[in-house]
Amino acid sequence: MVKPDGVQRGLVGKILQRIEEKGFKIVAMKLAAMPEAKAKEHYAEHVGKKFYQDLVDFITSGPSVSLVVEGRGAIAAMRKMNGATNPVEAVPGTIRGDWGIETGRNVVHGSDSPASASREIALHFDPSELVTYKRID
Ligand code: CMP
Repeated sequence: MVKPDGVQRGLVGKILQRIEEKGFKIVAMKLAAMPEAKAKEHYAEHVGKKFYQDLVDFITSGPSVSLVVEGRGAIAAMRKMNGATNPVEAVPGTIRGDWGIETGRNVVHGSDSPASASREIALHFDPSELVTYKRID
């Protein structure tokens, strides 16, 4: 997901380019403002943490771009491409290392496991919105 800061700063195209050039296939994509209820579900694992409300406020502060990315090792590779959660620690060459500002505004979110990917995809997409096509490299 490209978070509201990434959308507002005009970074969507550059982020999509990295994903495509890596060789991953984008099989679903949506620009939408996340309603508060959906944000709370998305970040359910953080309920009770001191940054939880800030997280919900931020992710609902403007449109974000949700993506389903397919490819070998896509979850682990996307997390590496995203970089460390804290942009100060994210190495240059990663999305957060190059463009992140602070932990609360770190440009992108990536699912951290197959289980969370399934949950998050189901939250943001109807199954009919995932497409099948052949990627030619
Ligand atoms: P994300 O990958 O979207 O998953 C949870 C988010 O919580 C994380 O990126 C950060 O943006 C945010 N987060 C994690 N730790 C903190 C923190 N200590 N303070 C503020 N936000 C945090």
